[in-house]
Amino acid sequence: MEYKIAVIPGDGIGVEVINEGVKLLKLISKLYEDIDFRFDFFDYGCDYYLKYKRMMEEDGLEKLSKSDAIYLGAVGNNTVSDDISLRGLLLKIRQEFDQYVNLRPIKLLKGAETIIKGKSKDDIDMIFIRENSEGEYIGTGSHMFKNSPRELVIQDNVFTRYGCERIIRYAFEVAKQNKKSLTSISKANALNYSMVFWDSIFNEIKAEYPEVETHSLLVDAATMVMVNEPEKLEVVVSSNLFGDILTDLGAAIAGGIGLAAGANINPEKRYPSMFEPIHGSAPNIAGKGIANPVAAIWSVSQMMDFFGREDIGLDILNAIEKLLVEKKCLPTDLGGSKSTTAVGDEICRNLTEIVENKIK
Ligand code: NAD
Ligand code: IPM
Ligand code: MN
Repeated sequence: MEYKIAVIPGDGIGVEVINEGVKLLKLISKLYEDIDFRFDFFDYGCDYYLKYKRMMEEDGLEKLSKSDAIYLGAVGNNTVSDDISLRGLLLKIRQEFDQYVNLRPIKLLKGAETIIKGKSKDDIDMIFIRENSEGEYIGTGSHMFKNSPRELVIQDNVFTRYGCERIIRYAFEVAKQNKKSLTSISKANALNYSMVFWDSIFNEIKAEYPEVETHSLLVDAATMVMVNEPEKLEVVVSSNLFGDILTDLGAAIAGGIGLAAGANINPEKRYPSMFEPIHGSAPNIAGKGIANPVAAIWSVSQMMDFFGREDIGLDILNAIEKLLVEKKCLPTDLGGSKSTTAVGDEICRNLTEIVENKIK
């Protein structure tokens, strides 16, 4: 099977880490039977904007829609304001391709170290499901009475029955299939429309899944639980903004942002899904060749799962864990001194070894 991958390295360290992911994809097509990739590279990003005054071509979405998956690095730098660059590329793709599931594992890998005292990989093992198409990210609002004392802005915050039901039902399915509990995060004590609505839909759908143990947490309390009692959380579902914030916290407790991967999924496969590290373009280290490529490589593992090649997905995770356990080739954010490329090469070597050992 040949998959068409649209690669958007983007800005800053996006380019550096995506190089390593593409290197691994090329290796995968050599190591495994029945899988091949065709790459189309797109130079969309802030430099593209400076040249053309737009973040992607006019028919960019149409071009991307021809792919089986999009592989994205990161978008944003200080030459273009973030609301233009992210809205014009990353968020546009998520929304236009209806990638309404943002699947972010918060899982302490073997060999990775958590900052939380006394907790191990058995305690930090969540599947975080973030609503990815509406809520606080809908992108509309108004700005009125500019340059006057009455100036005001309104940022719309949209929750539809359709949008809430589909993400909550998706989360219940994941919990049921994995025999895990499901925790819904909300904030109905203050958000008296949106989160009251979210909670009521969660309770409606809960009735369809009597076999799934459920919990509900207010988002402020959830931050504490994530740090103090992460073992209580298994599958977690939240709105768009809460999920954004909580998954960076999740990254921090699960070994650092350099290890945090995410998939933006359109489960119905009407549009391509997109795989990306959850970190940004990291302008503070861009160009130094020291970014950790593991998050980007873990998102390749998620891409393989999505293609139905969970065997390859698991081998990639094992190759990453070998890197973390052996500790001889760690990037600087994990206390080592190796370059992005050296870490990528080591993961490739580990994967080759894992596959060769299976054949023996
Ligand atoms: P960031 O994730 O880029 O960086 C936060 C911190 O984490 C920095 O200290 C950085 O050096 C470090 N870091 C991030 N990834 C790392 C890696 N792979 N290896 C080692 N260290 C790493 O977040 P930010 O600084 O808030 O944002 C920078 C820019 O990226 C902004 O323009 C922001 O809007 C954008 N952004 C884009 C995406 C995306 O495209 N998916 C995601 C987040 C932020
Ligand atoms: C993420 C990022 C994006 C988000 C930004 C860059 C718009 O932080 O993917 O987590 O908020 O979704
Ligand atoms: Mn984020």
